[in-house]
Parts: sequence; C-alpha cells; structure tokens
Amino acid sequence: MAGQGFAKGLANYGDAEFSLFLRKAFVKGAGYSSAALERPVIGIVETGSAYNPCHGNMPQLVEAVKRGVFMAGGLPMPFPTISIGESFANPTSMYLRNLMAMDTEEMIRAQPMDAVVLIGGCDKTVPAQVMGAASAGVPAIQLVTGPMLTGSHHGERVGACTDCRRYWGRYRAAEIDGPGIDAVNDRLVASVGSCGVMGTASTMACVVEALGLAVPGSATPPAVTADRLRAAELSGLCAVGLARERVTPDRILTPDAFRNALRVLLAIGGSTNGIVHLTAMAGRLGIPIDLATLDRMGRETPVLVDLKPSGQHYMEDFHRAGGLPTLLRELKPLLHLDALTVTGRTLGEEIERAGPAFPQTVVRPFAEPLYPQGGIAVLSGNLAPGGAIIKQSAASPALMEHEGRAVVFDGLEDLAARIDADDLDVAADDVLVLQNIGPTGGPGMPEAGYIPIPKQLARAGVKDMVRISDGRMSGTAAGTIVLHVTPEAAIGGPLAHVRTGDRIRLSVAARRLELLVPEADLAARVAQAPRTRPRAARGYAKLFLESVTQADQGVDFDFLRHVRDEAADAQDGEAAL
Ligand code: FES
Repeated sequence: MAGQGFAKGLANYGDAEFSLFLRKAFVKGAGYSSAALERPVIGIVETGSAYNPCHGNMPQLVEAVKRGVFMAGGLPMPFPTISIGESFANPTSMYLRNLMAMDTEEMIRAQPMDAVVLIGGCDKTVPAQVMGAASAGVPAIQLVTGPMLTGSHHGERVGACTDCRRYWGRYRAAEIDGPGIDAVNDRLVASVGSCGVMGTASTMACVVEALGLAVPGSATPPAVTADRLRAAELSGLCAVGLARERVTPDRILTPDAFRNALRVLLAIGGSTNGIVHLTAMAGRLGIPIDLATLDRMGRETPVLVDLKPSGQHYMEDFHRAGGLPTLLRELKPLLHLDALTVTGRTLGEEIERAGPAFPQTVVRPFAEPLYPQGGIAVLSGNLAPGGAIIKQSAASPALMEHEGRAVVFDGLEDLAARIDADDLDVAADDVLVLQNIGPTGGPGMPEAGYIPIPKQLARAGVKDMVRISDGRMSGTAAGTIVLHVTPEAAIGGPLAHVRTGDRIRLSVAARRLELLVPEADLAARVAQAPRTRPRAARGYAKLFLESVTQADQGVDFDFLRHVRDEAADAQDGEAAL
C-alpha cells in the first residue's frame, strides 16, 4: 500500500511501521508536530542557484507557494534539484535537460509528497520539470519564475536577449565600438527573471499555461512583481486541491491539452525549441507529436502576439495586455475547451473567468494577425528526410524562396576559425551550412544554428542569409534559419555530405529543403565517408551519446520515454494528436 503524506514511499527496512516511526522522528527533529504531519504533503521544487539569475526570485516564490499551501491546509516541503542557467552551462544547457528531468522525476518519486509545485523558468528547466513530473505520476503544478524587466540604453528600451543579438550584430558590423558595447552590456538585463522577449523561457511559460499545468494568468507576470507572488500563492493553494482529488498529470496532459499547447506555440510566434520540448513532454505520456500535424495546425493558426523577436513588444507588455488569457480568448474557436486545468476547472471555464476583452495593442484580433500563419513551418526534402523547421515569422520574406551555393562548415571549431576570415569565399546569396551540431554531434544540440553573418558581409550591410544546420537556435534570435535538420550529420544524415559549391533550394511556401545533387553522387559520397554514432568512454557523456534521440523524438533519452501498455492501447485506441 503506497499510503499518503508521510506514509508514502517508505524507506525499506523490512518493517513498514518502523520505517514510518523513524521518518517521523527525524522530521520532528526539524520541529514539526504530529498534527503538521497529518496534512497533505506538498513538495516544492526549488531551483535557486547563483549560476541561474533567471531564478533569482526563488526565495520569495517559495515563501509565497508555502503561504498558499498553508492557506489550503497542506504542509509545504521545499527541496532542491539541479538548476540550469542557459548561459552558464557547458557545452550547452540542452545537454543537461534530461539529467534535470531524471533528477526531478526520481526525487519526486523517492520522497513522500501528495502533490508537487515545480518552480522553474530558464529555458530548459520548465520542460525538464514537466518531463520528470509526468513520468513520476504525482499531481503537479508548474510555476515559472517570470520574465525580467526591460532596461533602457540611451533612451531606447532593451531586453534580453533579442536586443543582445541586435547590438552584438552592430558591434560586429563596426557600427558600435568597444566602450559602446560594454555600456549596452550593463543595460540589457534589468532585473532577475527569465528573458523578457518571446524566447524559449517565455514560450514554455505560455505553453505550460495552455496545457492547463500552470494556474491561469501565471505565464506573464514579471519576476519582481506582486502579481508573480500572487500566482505563486495560488499555485500552492491549487496544489493542495490536486493532492486531495489525486489529479495526476496524465489527467491534465492529454492529447487535447497538447493540441492546445501547439496552437499557442504557433500563435505566440514561439521559440523553435518549444516543439522539441513539447515532443519530449508528450513522449513521456506516450502521446506522439508529428511534425506534419504541427505544420497543418500552423497553416490555420496566425501569429497574434506582437512580441520580439517576431514583433516589437516585451513580456511585461503582454502581461499588461491581460497575459495569456487575452490570447486564449482570441484562439477560442481553435481550442479544446474541455481540457482540465490545475484549478479543477476546464480551460474554457478559465477563459470565461478571465472576463471580457479590453483595448490593448499586444495581442492582435484573430482577423488582423501579425503574421497570417503560425510562427513555425515544417520542411522536408532530401536534405532533411526526418524533417527540419524554420521560424518563418522571424525570417526575411525575400529569402523564404531561395536557391544558393552552399558554404559549408564542418563544426563549431571550423566555424569559429573561418567565418570572419577576410579570404572566406562567400557572397550574400550563398547558403551557410553548419554540420555536426545535432543531438550527438554538439553534443546536446547547441543553440549555434544562428550562424553569424560573415564579418566581411556584415560590414557591407548584409543583415540576413539562409542558414542551415542540425542544431537549435535561441528563441530570442531572428533570421532565415533552418534548424533541427533530421537525421543529424553526426549519425550520417544527408547534411553530413553537403560540400561547399553544392546548390541548395529552400521553399518555405512548398515546405521543401532540397540538396540539388544527383542521387547517385550523394550515394557515392555516403559510401566514401560513412559515419558511426559518436561515443564516450564513461559517465553522463556515455549515457547521453548512447541514449539520446533525434529532434523529431524530442531529444529525450530513449529509455525515459513512455513504455506503452499494449493491452490498454488496444482498448483505448492510439493517443496520437
Ligand atoms: Fe534564462 Fe533566457 S537565459 S531565460
């Protein structure tokens, strides 16, 4: 018998009563009374770290969650897990996402709790927490740390990290000098919190609210505001309700909930990373997300949220415009309104409770979109048999139908060594190709797909080129950039065999990415230079390289994905989107 509260998941000494006796004795050593231990136990996942300023408000959030838990009659039990700060993780934060998911899953499973509040915010932390909690099967609520405030540089409003890239591009183009770029560096991040544009962190915040896994309106309040703390208090309060009703994540994270999340991902002009994370999260529940579904939804879901990098505003503006409920109201005809949320009410009921629309300029009406189709388009062709994606809402219209000569870099070292060389043979209408930055090649699929414009061209005023890789791109970046080419080069995908001088054709309208090399020539290149999967001798690197899946499987470890119950599947039918 699993038990509840402190009787749950006892340490195994061969005598269950003694195990409980011992556990209570130790927790009483921290000053708890027997009465406190009778309450529903709510775990709170703390991910504060000096290496993660995006989580810099963690102490205040934990206090507010605890208040909500107490208000509802529960007992809060904060505990730590791994934290991943995007710019502090080598080789890339994505390399560690699955490790954080494993830590989250196993600590939720190992320790006694009837529900858990997951506090994360920086890019990989939220998907890691949802993946872990979904697999642990304990009632869960996601609370995000919230976006940073915007800053000001010489009177211009700035925020990480779209403006970081914009100013760095100007520095590379010699439009700004050394002291100038140092001055910008002081202004870009005005407070703790996650990036203030529609990057991956904001995307995942909106996605988890759309999934029904976060309390309504909690995606957008800035990290340092009262609204953020109230969202934390409400999260604690709702967690006790979930514990009492035993609402496990699979009741909320249904195929309909994932359909709603994909709609929102498309309508916010969300980060391309969002599709990888959603695929991994759904994979934990045995719900396949295929790229064709995403593309079909994309053709009928316009971008409505006017935020950088696709538009002009910041997350704090989105919050003032009513936050995600304002968008959900516009998307209502496309949503599954019966999907359950952590409040115990449906998404449709929550949209009604948010009240009527009011005048604002951040979320466009459905009939007047920022971009007529969803932000992300899915490409296929002989260069990407398993698919590739492009964030069309942040691409240059003139380059979306383009044929050009490939200029190939075989990895990040080669890129660093040659991209700014004065003698690099490159022209503005060439296609830059970067190989070996996929899941095993990177390793961890680094956000290096935003290949810089070669200095000689940047100085001549070139702002965008078609760029192709098997890596990812920061959600805060913009450009005509093809990403997640699958299969990746490092395991022998066609991308590995592209050579400088080949012709490549991109057609976003036709959703095609073609290497214009005869099939026989390509086959000969494969035979000449076959690839074997990269390996490591020991440790996490060994586990990672042996187990990581491709982008179309969410880059999760193969052994962490949902194990299908074939008898139940036969009864219920396939759970695909
Ligand atoms: Fe943490 Fe952007 S660096 S959210």
